[in-house]
Amino acid sequence: MMSTEMQQDTSLIVLISGSLRARSACRAAIVAAAELAPADVTPAIYVGLSELPHFNPDHDCDPLPEPVIRLRKLLGDARAVMLSIPEYAGSLPGSFKNMIDWTVSAGSLYRRPIGWINCSAHGGAHDAHADLRRVLERAGATIVDEACVAVPVPPTAMTADGRIAAPDMRAAIADAIAALALAASAGDENTQPSS
Ligand SMILES: Cc1cc2nc3c(=O)[nH]c(=O)nc-3n(C[C@H](O)[C@H](O)[C@H](O)COP(=O)(O)O)c2cc1C
Repeated sequence: MMSTEMQQDTSLIVLISGSLRARSACRAAIVAAAELAPADVTPAIYVGLSELPHFNPDHDCDPLPEPVIRLRKLLGDARAVMLSIPEYAGSLPGSFKNMIDWTVSAGSLYRRPIGWINCSAHGGAHDAHADLRRVLERAGATIVDEACVAVPVPPTAMTADGRIAAPDMRAAIADAIAALALAASAGDENTQPSS
């Protein structure tokens, strides 16, 4: 089952594209990851990035803006988070960093297992992903290295309806979301009380 809504579900993995572009490779990778998630995972694609107001610490108090409440609730319910972001001007997209800033005081990403799919087809987007790692570490997230993969997606690899169809790319994306789900469930086992 795939959902774009919030759910109370211990198998929930939230997937976020850092690109707002309609024919985005990152968005296509996130959709593929949701489709290819293991059967015991409930994937939910976050669709509120463009609705978030600019982060302002003065507004990080009750009553919070509704898009912020929805973001924090979704991440709070999540077992793990999968990301895919482009590189803009040598770093993270501003709208995506704005989203991360809204999570910090609430600890929404704290100890949350996180992976990413790097779709850069030219240059590797190394600066953006180095920044992503540092920012997520500052937010206290648990980066799952096995779930952080490079799957270059050139425009020619996109179908007319903006999807990724190539079997090798889909297999790599499937491996990444499976690795994230495995790490999330292993983390759950580690937090079970011992008998
Ligand atoms: C304003 C702008 C700045 C960009 N800056 C970089 C950059 O610094 N380094 C890079 O590798 N690619 C850069 N790119 C290319 C994008 O990262 C690349 O097209 C990416 O695949 C877009 O992701 P999307 O298809 O998910 O929208 C830039 C693109 C735009 C529109």
